[in-house]
Amino acid sequence: MLDPTSSNDVFRVRGGAPLRGTVRLSGAKNSALKLMAAGLLCDGMVRLREVPRIADVPVMADVLRGLGVEVDLDLDGRCCAIDASEPPSWHAPSDAVTRIRASISVLGPLVARVRRARIASPGGDRIGSRPLDMHLRGLIAMGAEVEEDGGEVDVRAPELHGAQITLDFPSVGATENLLMAATLADGTTIIENAAREPEIQDLCRMLEAMGAHIEGVGSPTLEIEGVDRLAPVDWETCPDRIEAGTYAMAAAATGGDVVIERVRASDLTLPLLKLRSAGMVVEEGADTLRIKAGDLEAVDVVTLPYPGFPTDLQAQLMVLLTQATGTSRCTENVFDSRFDFVEQLRRMGADIEIDGHHALIRGPRRLHGVRLRSLDVRTGAAAAIAGLVAEGETIVSDVHHVDRGYADFVARLRALGADIDRVPASDVDG
Ligand code: UD1
Repeated sequence: MLDPTSSNDVFRVRGGAPLRGTVRLSGAKNSALKLMAAGLLCDGMVRLREVPRIADVPVMADVLRGLGVEVDLDLDGRCCAIDASEPPSWHAPSDAVTRIRASISVLGPLVARVRRARIASPGGDRIGSRPLDMHLRGLIAMGAEVEEDGGEVDVRAPELHGAQITLDFPSVGATENLLMAATLADGTTIIENAAREPEIQDLCRMLEAMGAHIEGVGSPTLEIEGVDRLAPVDWETCPDRIEAGTYAMAAAATGGDVVIERVRASDLTLPLLKLRSAGMVVEEGADTLRIKAGDLEAVDVVTLPYPGFPTDLQAQLMVLLTQATGTSRCTENVFDSRFDFVEQLRRMGADIEIDGHHALIRGPRRLHGVRLRSLDVRTGAAAAIAGLVAEGETIVSDVHHVDRGYADFVARLRALGADIDRVPASDVDG
Protein backbone atom coordinates (compact mmCIF):
# COMPACT_ATOMS: atom_id res chain seq x y z
CA MET A 1 0.00 0.00 0.00
CA LEU A 2 0.96 3.64 -0.06
CA ASP A 3 3.25 4.79 2.70
CA PRO A 4 1.32 6.20 5.60
CA THR A 5 0.91 9.86 4.80
CA SER A 6 -0.56 12.69 6.72
CA SER A 7 -2.40 15.61 5.22
CA ASN A 8 -0.34 17.70 7.61
CA ASP A 9 2.99 16.77 6.05
CA VAL A 10 5.07 19.36 4.22
CA PHE A 11 7.95 19.20 1.75
CA ARG A 12 11.14 20.83 2.97
CA VAL A 13 13.17 21.79 -0.09
CA ARG A 14 16.62 23.33 -0.33
CA GLY A 15 17.41 24.66 -3.76
CA GLY A 16 20.56 24.67 -5.82
CA ALA A 17 21.24 21.06 -6.82
CA PRO A 18 20.86 20.24 -10.53
CA LEU A 19 18.82 17.06 -11.01
CA ARG A 20 20.81 14.20 -12.50
CA GLY A 21 19.98 10.55 -13.10
CA THR A 22 17.15 8.37 -14.34
CA VAL A 23 13.45 8.26 -13.56
CA ARG A 24 11.01 5.61 -14.79
CA LEU A 25 7.45 6.75 -15.46
CA SER A 26 4.39 5.33 -13.74
CA GLY A 27 1.18 4.43 -15.51
CA ALA A 28 -0.87 7.52 -16.28
CA LYS A 29 -3.18 8.71 -13.49
CA ASN A 30 -5.75 9.97 -15.97
CA SER A 31 -5.72 6.66 -17.79
CA ALA A 32 -5.64 4.20 -14.88
CA LEU A 33 -8.63 5.76 -13.12
CA LYS A 34 -10.75 5.52 -16.28
CA LEU A 35 -9.58 1.98 -17.09
CA MET A 36 -10.70 1.01 -13.58
CA ALA A 37 -14.14 2.55 -14.22
CA ALA A 38 -14.31 0.66 -17.52
CA GLY A 39 -14.12 -2.55 -15.46
CA LEU A 40 -17.83 -1.93 -14.74
CA LEU A 41 -18.60 -2.64 -18.41
CA CYS A 42 -17.36 -6.22 -18.28
CA ASP A 43 -19.21 -9.19 -16.79
CA GLY A 44 -15.86 -10.81 -16.01
CA MET A 45 -12.39 -9.84 -14.85
CA VAL A 46 -10.46 -6.77 -16.02
CA ARG A 47 -6.79 -6.95 -14.99
CA LEU A 48 -4.74 -3.77 -15.14
CA ARG A 49 -0.95 -3.48 -15.00
CA GLU A 50 1.27 -0.42 -14.44
CA VAL A 51 -1.34 1.05 -12.12
CA PRO A 52 0.34 4.07 -10.46
CA ARG A 53 1.05 4.18 -6.70
CA ILE A 54 -1.02 7.32 -6.16
CA ALA A 55 -3.70 8.14 -3.62
CA ASP A 56 -6.52 8.54 -6.16
CA VAL A 57 -6.28 4.86 -7.15
CA PRO A 58 -7.44 3.37 -3.80
CA VAL A 59 -10.22 5.98 -3.72
CA MET A 60 -11.39 4.83 -7.15
CA ALA A 61 -11.20 1.23 -5.90
CA ASP A 62 -13.49 2.28 -3.03
CA VAL A 63 -15.93 3.88 -5.47
CA LEU A 64 -16.11 0.57 -7.36
CA ARG A 65 -16.39 -1.50 -4.16
CA GLY A 66 -19.22 0.79 -3.07
CA LEU A 67 -21.01 -0.32 -6.23
CA GLY A 68 -20.66 -3.96 -5.17
CA VAL A 69 -17.71 -4.75 -7.44
CA GLU A 70 -14.77 -6.88 -6.27
CA VAL A 71 -11.48 -5.00 -6.54
CA ASP A 72 -8.13 -6.55 -5.76
CA LEU A 73 -5.60 -3.73 -5.67
CA ASP A 74 -1.87 -4.33 -5.24
CA LEU A 75 -0.18 -0.94 -5.48
CA ASP A 76 3.30 -2.33 -4.75
CA GLY A 77 2.84 -4.77 -7.63
CA ARG A 78 1.27 -1.94 -9.65
CA CYS A 79 -1.73 -4.11 -10.58
CA CYS A 80 -5.45 -4.13 -10.05
CA ALA A 81 -8.12 -6.75 -10.79
CA ILE A 82 -11.73 -5.66 -11.13
CA ASP A 83 -14.47 -8.25 -11.12
CA ALA A 84 -17.93 -6.96 -12.01
CA SER A 85 -19.32 -10.41 -12.94
CA GLU A 86 -22.42 -9.54 -10.93
CA PRO A 87 -24.15 -6.42 -12.25
CA PRO A 88 -23.08 -3.45 -10.13
CA SER A 89 -25.44 -1.36 -8.07
CA TRP A 90 -26.47 1.96 -9.67
CA HIS A 91 -26.05 4.19 -6.64
CA ALA A 92 -22.44 5.34 -6.18
CA PRO A 93 -21.44 6.01 -2.56
CA SER A 94 -20.95 9.73 -2.08
CA ASP A 95 -18.09 9.59 0.47
CA ALA A 96 -15.57 8.18 -2.04
CA VAL A 97 -17.12 9.88 -5.08
CA THR A 98 -16.73 13.38 -3.68
CA ARG A 99 -12.99 12.85 -3.09
CA ILE A 100 -11.88 12.57 -6.72
CA ARG A 101 -13.01 14.10 -9.97
CA ALA A 102 -12.41 10.90 -11.92
CA SER A 103 -15.24 9.19 -10.01
CA ILE A 104 -17.59 10.77 -12.56
CA SER A 105 -16.20 8.23 -15.03
CA VAL A 106 -18.42 5.54 -13.50
CA LEU A 107 -21.44 7.40 -14.91
CA GLY A 108 -21.14 6.22 -18.52
CA PRO A 109 -20.26 2.59 -17.66
CA LEU A 110 -23.13 2.29 -15.14
CA VAL A 111 -25.68 3.70 -17.57
CA ALA A 112 -24.36 1.27 -20.19
CA ARG A 113 -24.29 -1.80 -17.96
CA VAL A 114 -27.31 -1.39 -15.63
CA ARG A 115 -29.13 1.44 -17.47
CA ARG A 116 -29.11 3.68 -14.42
CA ALA A 117 -26.63 5.72 -12.37
CA ARG A 118 -27.05 7.92 -9.34
CA ILE A 119 -23.93 9.77 -8.34
CA ALA A 120 -22.95 12.75 -6.22
CA SER A 121 -21.20 15.71 -7.74
CA PRO A 122 -17.57 14.55 -7.92
CA GLY A 123 -14.61 16.10 -6.11
CA GLY A 124 -11.04 16.61 -7.27
CA ASP A 125 -8.88 19.66 -7.84
CA ARG A 126 -10.43 23.05 -7.34
CA ILE A 127 -9.28 24.49 -10.66
CA GLY A 128 -12.33 26.46 -11.72
CA SER A 129 -15.85 25.46 -12.63
CA ARG A 130 -16.14 21.88 -13.79
CA PRO A 131 -19.74 21.35 -14.89
CA LEU A 132 -21.24 18.12 -16.25
CA ASP A 133 -23.51 19.63 -18.90
CA MET A 134 -21.76 17.94 -21.84
CA HIS A 135 -21.78 14.53 -20.13
CA LEU A 136 -25.50 14.82 -19.41
CA ARG A 137 -26.55 16.31 -22.77
CA GLY A 138 -24.83 13.42 -24.54
CA LEU A 139 -26.56 10.81 -22.38
CA ILE A 140 -29.94 12.54 -22.94
CA ALA A 141 -29.31 12.32 -26.70
CA MET A 142 -28.78 8.58 -26.16
CA GLY A 143 -32.22 8.25 -24.59
CA ALA A 144 -31.49 8.92 -20.91
CA GLU A 145 -33.63 10.90 -18.51
CA VAL A 146 -31.72 13.02 -16.04
CA GLU A 147 -32.85 14.37 -12.67
CA GLU A 148 -30.72 16.40 -10.31
CA ASP A 149 -31.58 16.58 -6.64
CA GLY A 150 -29.78 16.92 -3.34
CA GLY A 151 -26.36 17.36 -4.98
CA GLU A 152 -26.78 14.09 -6.88
CA VAL A 153 -27.52 13.36 -10.49
CA ASP A 154 -29.82 10.46 -11.34
CA VAL A 155 -29.63 9.11 -14.89
CA ARG A 156 -32.05 6.45 -16.17
CA ALA A 157 -31.80 4.97 -19.64
CA PRO A 158 -33.87 1.78 -19.94
CA GLU A 159 -33.46 2.03 -23.71
CA LEU A 160 -29.97 3.39 -24.27
CA HIS A 161 -29.42 3.95 -27.98
CA GLY A 162 -26.84 5.37 -30.33
CA ALA A 163 -26.89 9.07 -31.17
CA GLN A 164 -25.08 11.79 -33.06
CA ILE A 165 -23.39 13.99 -30.44
CA THR A 166 -21.35 17.13 -31.06
CA LEU A 167 -19.47 18.37 -28.00
CA ASP A 168 -19.22 22.15 -27.41
CA PHE A 169 -15.60 21.60 -26.36
CA PRO A 170 -13.38 18.48 -26.52
CA SER A 171 -13.95 17.60 -22.86
CA VAL A 172 -11.87 14.67 -21.66
CA GLY A 173 -14.41 13.47 -19.10
CA ALA A 174 -17.46 13.87 -21.35
CA THR A 175 -15.76 12.07 -24.26
CA GLU A 176 -14.82 9.15 -21.99
CA ASN A 177 -18.26 8.81 -20.41
CA LEU A 178 -20.12 8.96 -23.70
CA LEU A 179 -17.66 6.58 -25.34
CA MET A 180 -18.09 4.04 -22.54
CA ALA A 181 -21.89 4.40 -22.53
CA ALA A 182 -21.92 3.89 -26.31
CA THR A 183 -19.99 0.61 -26.22
CA LEU A 184 -23.05 -1.24 -24.86
CA ALA A 185 -25.83 0.97 -26.34
CA ASP A 186 -28.14 -0.18 -29.14
CA GLY A 187 -26.85 1.07 -32.49
CA THR A 188 -24.17 3.53 -33.50
CA THR A 189 -23.01 6.63 -31.64
CA ILE A 190 -20.95 9.34 -33.29
CA ILE A 191 -19.08 11.77 -31.02
CA GLU A 192 -17.90 14.87 -32.91
CA ASN A 193 -15.33 17.29 -31.44
CA ALA A 194 -14.21 14.44 -29.19
CA ALA A 195 -11.15 14.86 -26.97
CA ARG A 196 -8.20 12.75 -28.15
CA GLU A 197 -5.76 12.77 -25.26
CA PRO A 198 -3.40 9.74 -25.21
CA GLU A 199 -5.27 8.50 -22.10
CA ILE A 200 -8.52 8.42 -24.10
CA GLN A 201 -6.74 6.51 -26.83
CA ASP A 202 -5.54 4.07 -24.14
CA LEU A 203 -9.13 3.61 -22.97
CA CYS A 204 -10.35 3.10 -26.56
CA ARG A 205 -7.66 0.48 -27.21
CA MET A 206 -8.55 -1.42 -24.05
CA LEU A 207 -12.27 -1.31 -24.93
CA GLU A 208 -11.41 -2.62 -28.41
CA ALA A 209 -9.43 -5.44 -26.85
CA MET A 210 -12.59 -6.23 -24.87
CA GLY A 211 -14.60 -6.44 -28.10
CA ALA A 212 -15.90 -2.87 -28.52
CA HIS A 213 -16.28 -1.51 -32.06
CA ILE A 214 -14.69 1.93 -32.24
CA GLU A 215 -13.65 3.85 -35.37
CA GLY A 216 -11.53 7.00 -35.38
CA VAL A 217 -9.41 6.34 -32.28
CA GLY A 218 -7.10 9.33 -31.80
CA SER A 219 -9.20 11.55 -34.08
CA PRO A 220 -11.84 14.18 -33.18
CA THR A 221 -14.64 11.92 -34.46
CA LEU A 222 -15.34 8.66 -32.69
CA GLU A 223 -17.85 6.22 -34.13
CA ILE A 224 -18.93 3.49 -31.73
CA GLU A 225 -21.16 0.60 -32.67
CA GLY A 226 -22.72 -0.91 -29.55
CA VAL A 227 -22.17 -4.60 -28.74
CA ASP A 228 -24.02 -6.95 -26.34
CA ARG A 229 -21.15 -7.58 -23.96
CA LEU A 230 -17.50 -6.77 -23.38
CA ALA A 231 -15.05 -9.54 -22.61
CA PRO A 232 -12.39 -9.81 -19.86
CA VAL A 233 -9.03 -8.26 -20.63
CA ASP A 234 -5.49 -7.89 -19.29
CA TRP A 235 -4.20 -4.38 -20.00
CA GLU A 236 -1.10 -2.26 -19.35
CA THR A 237 -1.76 1.39 -18.49
CA CYS A 238 0.00 3.88 -20.79
CA PRO A 239 2.88 5.93 -19.31
CA ASP A 240 2.10 9.23 -17.60
CA ARG A 241 3.03 12.05 -20.00
CA ILE A 242 2.29 14.68 -17.34
CA GLU A 243 4.70 13.00 -14.94
CA ALA A 244 7.25 12.97 -17.79
CA GLY A 245 6.70 16.67 -18.44
CA THR A 246 6.99 17.48 -14.74
CA TYR A 247 10.38 15.74 -14.35
CA ALA A 248 11.55 17.27 -17.63
CA MET A 249 10.67 20.77 -16.38
CA ALA A 250 12.35 20.04 -13.03
CA ALA A 251 15.49 18.94 -14.87
CA ALA A 252 15.39 22.00 -17.10
CA ALA A 253 14.71 24.49 -14.31
CA THR A 254 17.57 23.18 -12.15
CA GLY A 255 20.08 23.05 -15.01
CA GLY A 256 20.22 19.27 -14.75
CA ASP A 257 20.54 16.21 -16.97
CA VAL A 258 17.83 13.58 -16.56
CA VAL A 259 16.88 10.44 -18.49
CA ILE A 260 13.17 9.58 -18.42
CA GLU A 261 12.37 5.90 -19.04
CA ARG A 262 9.16 4.22 -20.24
CA VAL A 263 8.10 7.39 -22.02
CA ARG A 264 6.24 7.88 -25.29
CA ALA A 265 7.75 10.98 -26.87
CA SER A 266 4.88 11.04 -29.38
CA ASP A 267 2.50 11.93 -26.50
CA LEU A 268 4.67 14.95 -25.70
CA THR A 269 5.25 16.54 -29.10
CA LEU A 270 4.33 20.10 -28.13
CA PRO A 271 5.88 20.13 -24.62
CA LEU A 272 9.16 18.85 -26.13
CA LEU A 273 8.99 21.44 -28.91
CA LYS A 274 8.58 24.14 -26.25
CA LEU A 275 11.43 22.78 -24.13
CA ARG A 276 13.67 22.78 -27.19
CA SER A 277 12.60 26.33 -28.09
CA ALA A 278 13.39 27.31 -24.51
CA GLY A 279 16.97 26.15 -25.03
CA MET A 280 16.94 22.63 -23.60
CA VAL A 281 18.63 19.73 -25.33
CA VAL A 282 16.16 16.87 -25.75
CA GLU A 283 17.41 13.49 -27.01
CA GLU A 284 14.77 10.92 -27.92
CA GLY A 285 15.48 7.19 -27.62
CA ALA A 286 13.14 4.27 -28.33
CA ASP A 287 11.25 4.70 -25.05
CA THR A 288 13.53 7.17 -23.30
CA LEU A 289 14.08 10.91 -23.26
CA ARG A 290 17.21 12.68 -22.12
CA ILE A 291 16.68 16.27 -20.99
CA LYS A 292 19.88 18.33 -20.70
CA ALA A 293 20.22 21.89 -19.46
CA GLY A 294 20.90 24.72 -21.88
CA ASP A 295 20.67 28.52 -21.75
CA LEU A 296 17.00 29.08 -21.05
CA GLU A 297 15.15 31.53 -23.27
CA ALA A 298 11.59 32.87 -23.17
CA VAL A 299 8.84 31.00 -25.08
CA ASP A 300 5.13 31.58 -25.66
CA VAL A 301 2.77 28.77 -24.70
CA VAL A 302 -0.99 28.32 -25.05
CA THR A 303 -2.79 25.50 -23.22
CA LEU A 304 -5.31 23.61 -25.33
CA PRO A 305 -6.85 20.14 -25.52
CA TYR A 306 -4.47 17.50 -26.90
CA PRO A 307 -2.42 17.76 -29.10
CA GLY A 308 -2.16 21.29 -27.65
CA PHE A 309 0.06 22.07 -24.68
CA PRO A 310 -1.47 20.36 -21.60
CA THR A 311 -3.03 22.56 -18.93
CA ASP A 312 -1.68 20.02 -16.42
CA LEU A 313 1.88 21.19 -17.23
CA GLN A 314 1.16 24.92 -17.14
CA ALA A 315 2.17 25.60 -13.51
CA GLN A 316 5.43 23.64 -13.82
CA LEU A 317 6.23 25.51 -17.05
CA MET A 318 5.63 28.88 -15.38
CA VAL A 319 8.27 28.00 -12.78
CA LEU A 320 10.69 27.07 -15.56
CA LEU A 321 10.01 30.32 -17.42
CA THR A 322 10.92 32.41 -14.36
CA GLN A 323 14.48 31.18 -15.11
CA ALA A 324 14.40 31.97 -18.85
CA THR A 325 15.85 35.13 -20.37
CA GLY A 326 13.22 37.45 -21.84
CA THR A 327 9.45 37.76 -21.58
CA SER A 328 7.34 34.62 -22.00
CA ARG A 329 3.60 34.68 -22.52
CA CYS A 330 1.48 31.83 -21.19
CA THR A 331 -2.21 31.60 -22.06
CA GLU A 332 -4.57 29.26 -20.15
CA ASN A 333 -7.56 28.17 -22.21
CA VAL A 334 -8.86 25.06 -20.48
CA PHE A 335 -9.68 25.96 -16.86
CA ASP A 336 -10.66 29.33 -15.43
CA SER A 337 -8.73 29.47 -12.11
CA ARG A 338 -5.39 28.03 -13.05
CA PHE A 339 -3.34 31.16 -12.33
CA ASP A 340 -4.17 31.21 -8.60
CA PHE A 341 -0.69 29.82 -7.89
CA VAL A 342 1.07 32.82 -9.46
CA GLU A 343 0.69 34.98 -6.37
CA GLN A 344 2.85 32.45 -4.49
CA LEU A 345 5.56 32.49 -7.16
CA ARG A 346 5.59 36.29 -6.93
CA ARG A 347 6.35 36.02 -3.21
CA MET A 348 9.44 34.02 -4.21
CA GLY A 349 10.62 36.88 -6.43
CA ALA A 350 9.05 35.89 -9.77
CA ASP A 351 7.97 38.70 -12.08
CA ILE A 352 4.63 37.51 -13.46
CA GLU A 353 1.82 39.76 -14.62
CA ILE A 354 -1.68 38.37 -15.13
CA ASP A 355 -4.18 39.80 -17.57
CA GLY A 356 -7.30 37.62 -17.70
CA HIS A 357 -6.19 34.23 -18.98
CA HIS A 358 -2.76 35.50 -20.11
CA ALA A 359 0.38 35.58 -17.98
CA LEU A 360 3.53 37.52 -18.83
CA ILE A 361 6.63 36.02 -17.19
CA ARG A 362 9.77 38.17 -17.18
CA GLY A 363 13.03 36.40 -16.51
CA PRO A 364 15.41 35.38 -15.36
CA ARG A 365 14.61 36.13 -11.72
CA ARG A 366 16.39 34.76 -8.70
CA LEU A 367 13.82 32.96 -6.54
CA HIS A 368 14.15 32.75 -2.79
CA GLY A 369 12.67 30.19 -0.42
CA VAL A 370 9.31 30.95 1.20
CA ARG A 371 6.33 28.95 2.49
CA LEU A 372 4.15 27.73 -0.37
CA ARG A 373 0.84 25.91 -0.46
CA SER A 374 -0.19 23.23 -2.97
CA LEU A 375 -3.54 24.21 -4.44
CA ASP A 376 -3.96 21.04 -6.50
CA VAL A 377 -1.91 18.11 -7.82
CA ARG A 378 0.03 20.16 -10.37
CA THR A 379 0.72 23.33 -8.38
CA GLY A 380 2.03 21.09 -5.59
CA ALA A 381 4.61 19.65 -8.00
CA ALA A 382 5.33 23.12 -9.39
CA ALA A 383 5.91 24.43 -5.87
CA ALA A 384 8.48 21.69 -5.25
CA ILE A 385 10.25 22.59 -8.52
CA ALA A 386 10.24 26.26 -7.50
CA GLY A 387 11.85 25.21 -4.22
CA LEU A 388 14.56 23.26 -6.10
CA VAL A 389 15.39 26.42 -8.06
CA ALA A 390 15.20 28.87 -5.16
CA GLU A 391 17.92 30.03 -2.81
CA GLY A 392 17.46 28.86 0.75
CA GLU A 393 14.67 26.73 2.14
CA THR A 394 11.15 26.40 0.75
CA ILE A 395 8.33 24.74 2.67
CA VAL A 396 5.43 23.34 0.63
CA SER A 397 2.25 22.55 2.56
CA ASP A 398 -0.91 20.61 1.59
CA VAL A 399 1.20 17.98 -0.14
CA HIS A 400 -1.65 15.46 0.04
CA HIS A 401 -2.61 16.99 -3.32
CA VAL A 402 0.71 15.79 -4.78
CA ASP A 403 0.09 12.27 -3.42
CA ARG A 404 -3.06 12.15 -5.56
CA GLY A 405 -1.11 12.32 -8.81
CA TYR A 406 2.61 11.58 -8.37
CA ALA A 407 3.94 8.18 -7.32
CA ASP A 408 6.79 8.33 -4.77
CA PHE A 409 7.44 11.97 -5.63
CA VAL A 410 9.93 12.81 -2.88
CA ALA A 411 11.84 9.52 -3.22
CA ARG A 412 12.18 9.97 -6.97
CA LEU A 413 13.38 13.56 -6.68
CA ARG A 414 15.87 12.53 -3.98
CA ALA A 415 17.15 9.75 -6.26
CA LEU A 416 17.84 12.49 -8.83
CA GLY A 417 19.89 14.39 -6.26
CA ALA A 418 17.27 16.84 -5.04
CA ASP A 419 17.52 18.12 -1.49
CA ILE A 420 13.90 17.53 -0.50
CA ASP A 421 12.25 15.67 2.34
CA ARG A 422 8.80 15.17 3.71
CA VAL A 423 8.24 16.00 7.35
CA PRO A 424 5.27 16.64 9.64
CA ALA A 425 4.20 20.30 9.53
CA SER A 426 4.93 20.53 13.27
CA ASP A 427 8.67 20.05 12.48
CA VAL A 428 8.83 23.35 10.60
CA ASP A 429 6.35 25.44 12.58
CA GLY A 430 7.53 28.39 14.53
C1 UD1 B 1 -9.32 15.90 -17.25
C2 UD1 B 1 -8.15 15.56 -16.38
C3 UD1 B 1 -7.42 16.81 -15.90
C4 UD1 B 1 -7.05 17.69 -17.08
C5 UD1 B 1 -8.28 17.94 -17.95
C6 UD1 B 1 -7.97 18.72 -19.23
C7 UD1 B 1 -8.85 13.53 -15.31
C8 UD1 B 1 -9.22 12.83 -14.04
N1 UD1 B 1 -8.61 14.82 -15.23
O1 UD1 B 1 -10.26 16.62 -16.44
O2 UD1 B 1 -6.23 16.41 -15.22
O3 UD1 B 1 -6.59 18.94 -16.59
O4 UD1 B 1 -8.88 16.69 -18.35
O5 UD1 B 1 -6.95 18.08 -19.93
O6 UD1 B 1 -8.71 12.90 -16.35
N2 UD1 B 1 -16.51 21.33 -19.18
C9 UD1 B 1 -17.77 21.84 -19.28
N3 UD1 B 1 -18.83 20.96 -19.27
C10 UD1 B 1 -18.67 19.62 -19.17
C11 UD1 B 1 -17.36 19.10 -19.07
C12 UD1 B 1 -16.29 19.99 -19.07
O7 UD1 B 1 -17.96 23.05 -19.38
O8 UD1 B 1 -19.68 18.88 -19.18
C13 UD1 B 1 -15.35 22.28 -19.19
C14 UD1 B 1 -14.58 22.28 -17.89
O9 UD1 B 1 -15.16 23.15 -16.94
C15 UD1 B 1 -13.20 22.77 -18.32
C16 UD1 B 1 -13.09 22.17 -19.73
O10 UD1 B 1 -14.40 21.83 -20.15
O11 UD1 B 1 -13.16 24.16 -18.41
C17 UD1 B 1 -12.21 20.93 -19.80
O12 UD1 B 1 -12.71 19.93 -18.93
P1 UD1 B 1 -12.48 18.38 -19.21
O13 UD1 B 1 -11.69 18.20 -20.46
O14 UD1 B 1 -13.80 17.71 -19.12
O15 UD1 B 1 -11.56 17.98 -17.99
P2 UD1 B 1 -11.76 16.82 -16.94
O16 UD1 B 1 -12.23 15.58 -17.62
O17 UD1 B 1 -12.52 17.34 -15.78
